[in-house]
Amino acid sequence: MLLGVNIDHVATLRNARGGKEPQPIEAAKICERLGVSSITTHLREDRRHIKDSDVDIISKTISTPLNLEMAVTDEMLEIALKIKPHSVCLVPEKRQEVTTEGGLDVAGQIEKMTKFVGKLNDAGIIVSMFIDPSKEQVEASKKVGAPFIEMHTGSYANAFGTQNEEAEFLKLKNAALYAQSIGLKVNAGHGLDYNNVHRMHEIDGLYELNIGHSIISKSIFTGLETAVKEMMELIK
Ligand code: PXP
Repeated sequence: MLLGVNIDHVATLRNARGGKEPQPIEAAKICERLGVSSITTHLREDRRHIKDSDVDIISKTISTPLNLEMAVTDEMLEIALKIKPHSVCLVPEKRQEVTTEGGLDVAGQIEKMTKFVGKLNDAGIIVSMFIDPSKEQVEASKKVGAPFIEMHTGSYANAFGTQNEEAEFLKLKNAALYAQSIGLKVNAGHGLDYNNVHRMHEIDGLYELNIGHSIISKSIFTGLETAVKEMMELIK
């Protein structure tokens, strides 16, 4: 399993004061030096953390694959086609939400998604659909032409250590195995942390985990290098 690091919350901290520190590009450079498999930034419609200038400088400076998380909108498509990140993870987005709350409804928007994914595929950008671990959404992701899915692990993370953990974990495991059986590559992320990440080893064939909040939170106390290295150790 590979580790992709989401550095959005470096920007959250910077934006709290509206100044220049800390810089997401500096976090990206540290992650690159440590050999993470990708660096993720989520360019939200309201630009609450990552700004266009962050994506721009990261894409120009870093050779580690850039994974741009974005909503399915014309504005974001235009930006992706201009920046040409290594990959794009398509996510649902609501302005009021604190973070990405659920997976993308691919099954309910097949036509729209097929067109959108097609444009990114044509540009040579690898597309991943951020979906809840359900057979319906996995099948729909295959149908619209995406080579990857990223399973939303938020419900598993919330249920971790409770009586619902097993049920939520099994949803992930079954969806991942089914996705792989129909030719999709499978990533996972959201809410994964130093305590709950170990169960991802029980899911054969997971390609990459995308983890942000827990790593950036830990880095405040340990430094980013230690926080990333500790997570790499847990998932290798
Ligand atoms: N993957 C996706 C698609 C996300 O939206 C997020 C949160 O931005 C993550 C992974 C990382 O989640 P967390 O910050 O909880 O590790």
